[in-house]
Amino acid sequence: MTINMALIGAGGMGKRHANGYLELKKYFSDLNIVAVCDIHESVAESVADYIYNTEGKRPDVITDIEKIYSLKNLDAVDIATSTPMHHVIAIDAMQNGLHVITEKPIAITIKAANKMKNISVITKKVLSVAENYRRDPINRLTKALIDSNKIGDIYFTLDLNLSSSNKSVMHSTVWRSKKYQAGGNVLDAGVHNADMLLYLLGNVETIFAQVSIFEKERILRKMEDVAPVLSHMYSHRKENNKEGDKIVQDAVDSAFGVLRFNSGAIGQISFSDTSHGQNLGISTITGSEGTLYRSSSRSGKSPKIVFSNGKEISGDKLFELVPNFSLDDDTSKIWDGVDKLSNYSHDFHLVDAKILAFQYLDFYRSIINNKKPEVGFDEGIEALGLAYGLIESGLKGKLIKLEDVISGKEDIYQREINEKYLV
Ligand SMILES: NC(=O)c1ccc[n+]([C@@H]2O[C@H](COP(=O)([O-])OP(=O)(O)OC[C@H]3O[C@@H](n4cnc5c(N)ncnc54)[C@H](O)[C@@H]3O)[C@@H](O)[C@H]2O)c1
Repeated sequence: MTINMALIGAGGMGKRHANGYLELKKYFSDLNIVAVCDIHESVAESVADYIYNTEGKRPDVITDIEKIYSLKNLDAVDIATSTPMHHVIAIDAMQNGLHVITEKPIAITIKAANKMKNISVITKKVLSVAENYRRDPINRLTKALIDSNKIGDIYFTLDLNLSSSNKSVMHSTVWRSKKYQAGGNVLDAGVHNADMLLYLLGNVETIFAQVSIFEKERILRKMEDVAPVLSHMYSHRKENNKEGDKIVQDAVDSAFGVLRFNSGAIGQISFSDTSHGQNLGISTITGSEGTLYRSSSRSGKSPKIVFSNGKEISGDKLFELVPNFSLDDDTSKIWDGVDKLSNYSHDFHLVDAKILAFQYLDFYRSIINNKKPEVGFDEGIEALGLAYGLIESGLKGKLIKLEDVISGKEDIYQREINEKYLV
């Protein structure tokens, strides 16, 4: 059965979605992007052309989102707009009978995300979140290693993400400086880390954090200088400000948090892009038998385990610890038939595309087989709750429960955002 989809939001991530779609088409033909929509016509045209150049079929170009609903035979929308529009578009689409896959974070606030969940339940339309990190085949192996108990009972995790942006606007996208647009690395990047911790270690009970905005003025620099690997995916997008402009940053740029998981494990999680002169990226999980060093998602590097006796295992030797581990059939198909991987050396954009292709396939199967997507509203809300929980705890100056962030009880930071968007 064919599913026809409109891609809404054709900026940097929208183009990466197009790339993922074209990768999917090498293995699977029953999902089609039939329209590309962006408020900027040239941006939508550019991504439609990009698809046409490979597929030979040009999706319709649409600038007024309402016109999406009069397209014939449309089944779904794929939302890659900036975050404030995720819930608006998703709710409208589901109420118009369409299934939804949306970029992370699921929504601008927890309240908005809970509304999306309610509409998905009422309309029975699939609501899937394009959270990509966990779908990296290396992270599947990491999960199998933890689940196999080879590092024993989990004691603690460290997830430290300290880097220097050189006072630049994150990814050269002004919305990423803004509190009211779900900007700031703690939220925009942190939601990935949150999802990974929840995926690997289970539910979080409590959060305590200190947060700050250390650099309230940023400079809009060229994407080539700020994020060179991604820059060609962003060259077609429109930005109202110009290079060199000073931009007010009112989104939190630094958070240092401590977590307690339901399992009893504890964790330290930190984010800052103001760590000048010191890049510190540490992702480890320590248990009663040793420490697992996680590799950076999409880097292709192997995880490593160092046992309490000092013995180190990495690469394909890790398979001996989890002899029954293999990738699911769809991942295997998209990764050229391999049934497991401990490392790879593909170009970043190919890896990115393969992971996006998998997400589309998971979305497709959820629609066709009437099953929950791997990352649905609950997983999306938990990850958003954990990322926002750091900020909420920091502003409150107290330890808070993740469940109270998810229920909307803890909302000092989000309250004004909800008011602004009338959520
Ligand atoms: N999963 C990942 O690894 C990853 C990476 C980057 C971005 N993202 C997410 O993807 C989303 C987009 O990020 P980006 O970097 O592409 O931003 P971007 O600013 O490059 O692109 C957003 C696009 O949405 C369009 N848009 C905004 N409102 C719209 C509307 N009402 N109708 C149609 N188009 C509209 C804008 O014109 C713009 O072209 C964000 O939610 C972000 O968090 C995810």
